[in-house]
Amino acid sequence: MNLTNESGTFDLDGELTINRLGFGAMRLCGEGIIGPPENEQDAKEVVQHAVDLGVDFIDTADSYGPGVSERLLRDAVDTGEVTIATKAGLLRNSEGQWLNHADPDYIRNQVLVSRDRLGVDSIDLYQLHSPDPDTPFESSITAFAELKDDGFIDHVGLSNVSVDQLEAAREHVEIASVQNQYNVLHRDQEDVLQACEDYGIGFIPYFPIAAGSISGIDTINTVADAHDATVYQIAIAWLLEHSDVMLPIPGTGSLEHLEENVAASTISLSDEEYTRLAEIESINR
Ligand SMILES: NC(=O)c1ccc[n+]([C@@H]2O[C@H](COP(=O)([O-])OP(=O)(O)OC[C@H]3O[C@@H](n4cnc5c(N)ncnc54)[C@H](OP(=O)(O)O)[C@@H]3O)[C@@H](O)[C@H]2O)c1
Repeated sequence: MNLTNESGTFDLDGELTINRLGFGAMRLCGEGIIGPPENEQDAKEVVQHAVDLGVDFIDTADSYGPGVSERLLRDAVDTGEVTIATKAGLLRNSEGQWLNHADPDYIRNQVLVSRDRLGVDSIDLYQLHSPDPDTPFESSITAFAELKDDGFIDHVGLSNVSVDQLEAAREHVEIASVQNQYNVLHRDQEDVLQACEDYGIGFIPYFPIAAGSISGIDTINTVADAHDATVYQIAIAWLLEHSDVMLPIPGTGSLEHLEENVAASTISLSDEEYTRLAEIESINR
């Protein structure tokens, strides 16, 4: 099989070219995204295979594991050869909580940790994982802007932000990407996607295949049958079709699912199929 990533390219900040279909490395960790996976070698093989198939954009975070996902990425691939997007701004604990923590001192500490763990001089894309209610948003953003000025990071991204927050951040630093929840079934972040299109910013939909829980939707089933594809492949193909700034990062710990997800980039939806999928009622949360 001559499978390759055919998602086309996007230029982050107009200068860092990536293939639009990336890989989400959160699922490389153990259960609950805490600790290592059962078999680290298998996890590393999934990432290596992704890169072999033409995936050159990998999303991770310091809080995945915590630390485990970044460590496995460095072990698995040449982190200087692919574009790694990591994040800071959330803490974990053994109860599995995700705790906001985006004060500037912490961000400045974490960039050093992630840089070392990834084995890079500067981080390609450094994302604020989530605004912190206990830290003024501008303070977090200013820390990212300073890290960029000081050469610790090349590009700045945001995650879990509103249009207002995106616009406020743009007052301080050029924003290369926004990562919010979005998939064919959950489209309540359409306004943020629209703003990204207007500003030429990459939009990274997390849960691009609804965290592996798409079932019982007749329209998706019908389109999938017509393409001899899975519903997850159709969800990815629809995202890629929906916007030129869309950068899906499906996550998997399975070689078989990885190949399916990359193969989704070769599916061409008809206008009619695209529209029928767009008309599925969004399950807003
Ligand atoms: N910024 C944020 O706040 C935030 C939040 C969540 C996630 N993220 C990022 O977004 C990435 C993607 O999100 P996600 O991994 O949570 O959700 P997702 O990509 O929508 O779904 C991943 C789930 O679907 C399964 N799956 C993957 N490919 C499949 C296929 N072809 N057929 C059937 N099942 C499949 C996976 O299980 P298997 O391992 O069995 O394939 C996994 O359980 C993460 O890796 C992370 O980098 C960011």
